[in-house]
Amino acid sequence: MTRIVGALAAFLLTSALGALAFVWSGWYDISANVQHTQPVYSVLEKTMHQSVKLRASAIDAPALDTPAMVSRGAACYVDKCVQCHGGPGMAQAEIGRSMQPLPGPLVDASAKWRPSELYWITRNGIKMSGMPAWQHRLPDADLWALVAFMQRLPALTATEFRGLAESGAAAQCAVPTSATVLRDPSIDRGRAAITQYACNACHNVPGVTGSDVNVGPPLAGIAGRGLIAGAVPNTPEQMVRWLRDPRSIDAETTMPAMQVNEQDARDIAAFLATLH
Ligand code: HEC
Ligand code: HEC
Repeated sequence: MTRIVGALAAFLLTSALGALAFVWSGWYDISANVQHTQPVYSVLEKTMHQSVKLRASAIDAPALDTPAMVSRGAACYVDKCVQCHGGPGMAQAEIGRSMQPLPGPLVDASAKWRPSELYWITRNGIKMSGMPAWQHRLPDADLWALVAFMQRLPALTATEFRGLAESGAAAQCAVPTSATVLRDPSIDRGRAAITQYACNACHNVPGVTGSDVNVGPPLAGIAGRGLIAGAVPNTPEQMVRWLRDPRSIDAETTMPAMQVNEQDARDIAAFLATLH
């Protein structure tokens, strides 16, 4: 028994030391020019598939076959997706061509994924791949419109694709069709929105993973500060105003306006108010 425990401990220790040596030595080539090996790629792909299937299983897809939905989806696709994924008769832009993993054309996506899964991927993105999350950039109706469009994609000729994209352009992707109703602010959504608006690119934020950055002041303790940016009282309303349009409060501030919508700003303000 002691021998087995000893051998196991020695094995774990050697593995841990090996992993440390691997990281510290810099052996691993992180270049986007170098492919993953096939086994590593296959494991990553399988992990992604299983993860999406599990998380999308509780989502019910609405009806996806109205022509208006498909053409709005086409407009959103041309606006937001084509630069990385290309389309029938349309190449990816430079940025999409050399990413690692490579974002492929989505003509076969509806054969590989259920509508609920395509919705989940588009809404949440794929970590460590470069596939962005669109949840904070597109209203829910547009996410489903994109799914509707992806159902049609396999059958489209290049001319039909161009036609759909042009007819849908009038529908203006991402512009809400009806007045958005604000719900009560949510701390959890606020925390998630922090990463989706790149706040953690400049600020250290407690509870949000990121590099140690100090372009902006650390946000630990922000709830207890009397003033925002030394200028206006730290109330929820002023915080929303600061987040949406910092220059309306301080014309010289270097904090950029991050196109935060009203609901997301209220959620972020609710989260910041918990940082004592
Ligand atoms: C900045 C580049 C980029 C943009 C923009 C982008 N994607 Fe992606 N997408 C990726 C990458 C990278 C992957 C992962 C490819 C992989 O894992 O093999 C991916 C994967 C996907 C997948 C899974 C594909 C598959 O075959 O398994 C879907 C579906 C998808 N994207 C939909 C979209 C939609 C819809 C949009 C527009 C709203 C979009 N993407 C915009 C980069 C992008
Ligand atoms: C490009 C860098 C950058 C980004 C991105 C950024 N900020 Fe800032 N932020 C700053 C800088 C710089 C300041 C200090 C501004 C000043 O005092 O004029 C600041 C100030 C602040 C303050 C006031 C801090 C205090 O102590 O008064 C808050 C709150 C804040 N930012 C939150 C956010 C949130 C939330 C986001 C994301 C929506 C965000 N910031 C995105 C750079 C950034």
